[in-house]
Amino acid sequence: MKPIDVVIMAAGKGTRMRSSIPKVLHRLANKALLQHVVDATRALTVRQVVLVTGHGAAAVQAAMAHEAGLTSVVQEPQLGTGHAVQQAMPRLADDGLTLVLSGDVPLIQPATLHALVQACDQQHLSLLTLDAPNPTGYGRVVRDAQGQVLAIVEEKDANDAQKAIREIYSGILVAPTKDLRRWLGQLDDHNAQHEFYLTDVVKHAVAEGAQLRTHTTDAAWEVAGVNSPAQLAELERIHQRRTADALLTQGVRLADPARLDVRGELVCASDVFIDVNCVFEGQVVLGEGVRIGANCVIANCRIEAGAVIHPFTHIDGEQLGVTVGEGALIGPYARLRPGAQLGPEVHIGNFVEVKNATLAKGAKANHLAYLGDATVGERVNYGAGSITANYDGANKHRTIIEDDVHVGSNCVLVAPVTIGAGGTVGGGSTITKSTEPGALSVARGKQVSLANWKRPTKKK
Ligand code: UD1
Ligand code: MG
Repeated sequence: MKPIDVVIMAAGKGTRMRSSIPKVLHRLANKALLQHVVDATRALTVRQVVLVTGHGAAAVQAAMAHEAGLTSVVQEPQLGTGHAVQQAMPRLADDGLTLVLSGDVPLIQPATLHALVQACDQQHLSLLTLDAPNPTGYGRVVRDAQGQVLAIVEEKDANDAQKAIREIYSGILVAPTKDLRRWLGQLDDHNAQHEFYLTDVVKHAVAEGAQLRTHTTDAAWEVAGVNSPAQLAELERIHQRRTADALLTQGVRLADPARLDVRGELVCASDVFIDVNCVFEGQVVLGEGVRIGANCVIANCRIEAGAVIHPFTHIDGEQLGVTVGEGALIGPYARLRPGAQLGPEVHIGNFVEVKNATLAKGAKANHLAYLGDATVGERVNYGAGSITANYDGANKHRTIIEDDVHVGSNCVLVAPVTIGAGGTVGGGSTITKSTEPGALSVARGKQVSLANWKRPTKKK
């Protein structure tokens, strides 16, 4: 088996995106277009990836710096797709196969690349083609009466008969590197666009008597390029719909597969239900029977079996992650921030914010509250309007609320402070000193009542 070297063409400007961001760095499902292409190649066994950059080269290279086995060459100026691949050739050894991809064709599937490489059978120039209902704008695959490929003719160079051909070249091919190098050496720019066309390698191969192979896909989206915001949005919808369909196939119940966005990886156990307009980002894991209400945004979070996330909840685990324990009830309108670690049967209600805090089994904060940098014991009840004052203006401090504590409404727990097990904090208290287990602590002005109080009256 010959090793596979990949060349990804990504030097084009992408004028129609009308953006200062290089086209291949625009995002689909919150991942750069180019990253989708690189990821598709990772499913094959490839020796290396050579990226051809040009417009925005520095930004594109920086965005790919984390990729092992990927190097870049700069194409300057950009004289066409053939010229682009020529720039990569010094990096490629003759013993391999070269697979050429475009950085702006993000939904290409590993199985299709694999089939194309199979078709090549280690020795034939092979083209990925598509039977397009509307071939306008694409290179047409010209065949002889026996069906042998003779040439690819670009739209701008095609005569009427050629324009009528529906089989188009996808922009993706594979060839033995040794042959490709020879054919690339024969390219010229004698064509309508005065460019060095990669597609002209076909006629040079045919002139040598080479037998070409093709692999044809019927999924136009797979080889569709992104040239404009409208095309990007269209491919985003196709990608999201495919993700939703895969979840449905697994048994996830979606209220509406057209109103779900997964921008990362969503892993679901059985009997998960997701209502409309939910967005999942980063790594999200949903346990058995989890229910997600409408309009939730959930990022980097693990939700254990049986938990219910009510509508309009925002969860963002960022680096620290968030976990929601078994049977927990969250929201509506809850906000869980990085480091929220909620145990089983925890209840977090509307307008409650939790950050970098651990809540043990059965703890409840049901209304309008803040728990930041806190350790909360089992069965704690944390009253409406109460907060942990975790920040002294310079440093963060921790609040410890031991098991079975009851914190009344509108309390301020000034950290660092510990509320002893089983203790009670009276509503409206500002607690600055730790309290003993079992104690009732009240820290507020004493109530004063003046009998028969006469309110001032308005002067005439
Ligand atoms: C190309 C094919 C066409 C095919 C179509 C499929 C050629 C001559 N034509 O046309 O047959 O049907 O793709 O989408 O190859 N690029 C560079 N450097 C350059 C020029 C282009 O890196 O000098 C990159 C672009 O950034 C892009 C890719 O190559 O990622 C394709 O270039 P593009 O100009 O879109 O080619 P098409 O005219 O679409
Ligand atoms: Mg194109």
